Amino acid sequence: MASTCNVVVLISGSGSNLQALIDSISHDDNPAHICAVIANRADAYGLERAKAAGIATRVLDHKAFDGREAFDGALIEAIDAFEPQLVVLAGFMRILTPDFVRHYAGRLLNIHPSLLPKYKGLHTHQRALQAGDCEHGCSVHFVTEELDGGPLVVQAVIPVQPDDSAESLAQRVHEQEHLIYPLAVRWFAEERLCLGEQGAMLDGQPLPSTGHLFRT
Ligand code: GAR
Repeated sequence: MASTCNVVVLISGSGSNLQALIDSISHDDNPAHICAVIANRADAYGLERAKAAGIATRVLDHKAFDGREAFDGALIEAIDAFEPQLVVLAGFMRILTPDFVRHYAGRLLNIHPSLLPKYKGLHTHQRALQAGDCEHGCSVHFVTEELDGGPLVVQAVIPVQPDDSAESLAQRVHEQEHLIYPLAVRWFAEERLCLGEQGAMLDGQPLPSTGHLFRT
């Protein structure tokens, strides 16, 4: 079995993806170990989830810093104090500086609520509905300097129902997020997943440009 992989999770809000990670790690022989949860908002509910699971928490309020560089520099210090092998963005609603992204190159994962490269940025469910898409979903990817643009690791695809609203779609996508993010983190912790020269690699093989695909 791979040795323990220390993970720091960054959040801004509810932290339901954090909860899915906590649950997936506590119930089996997953080598991932969440050593800290860091939020940029003191009222992020995910901090309560972390405390309930006995995980160390830190709050770094971006408004207290003079600009993006200063905040990201302090964030790097806070993260590196826990010496993680992996940093996981779980609803961390900040645009990261190139320095930050480069510092964690190959060990920074994000989850995004769309089938990337479609719908980078915000309001993804509404945009999928407005475009008349018959499929929607979520993506886990390595983070690079391009916003929501790094190599894909895994995507979950769901059908859009004729009567879907942005809310109903968001809820079904969220359920899929809670399945694929723990899987990707586990792959990384088991040293099966890495970022190679050509993109994301699983078990020594390049993943397809969509990442590993799950369809429901
Ligand atoms: C998730 O839907 C995640 O995909 C999204 O924020 C939500 C956080 O939910 N992330 C982004 O939009 C990043 N671009 P959670 O706090 O319940 O995990």
